[in-house]
Amino acid sequence: MKVAVIRKGHFNAAHRLFRPDWSDEMNREVFGICSHPNYHGHNYEFDVRVTGEVNPETGIVIDLKKLKELIEVHVELPFDHKNLNVDCPEFADRIPTAENICIEIYRRLRGEIPPEMDLHIRLSETPRNFVEFPA
Ligand code: NI
Repeated sequence: MKVAVIRKGHFNAAHRLFRPDWSDEMNREVFGICSHPNYHGHNYEFDVRVTGEVNPETGIVIDLKKLKELIEVHVELPFDHKNLNVDCPEFADRIPTAENICIEIYRRLRGEIPPEMDLHIRLSETPRNFVEFPA
């Protein structure tokens, strides 16, 4: 019997969506206000969904305290109150869009979750805009 267990995470971070090889006008056209040269912040909310068999002995899929700690150590502490473009090497040559941040959260947690369990991330940049990986 498989059950999905979800833990919510949160961080505040700044970013700018731009390509240095494009003009400010071109960046503005493609990325809109998220391309503002002096950066801006978002209150990022995310759901980490782990799906697996319920252990018949314990009645649980994954220890939520353990999952909370993994999220803190691997996602919240590294990203919270950071400028994603400047402070996080993962985004030195990858634009910190919601899509790329969501993939990065997945990458950071995938190795920490038992391989027989499925992992899925939903990242919200605003209450109305969110992305999911895997799609
Ligand atoms: Ni933005």
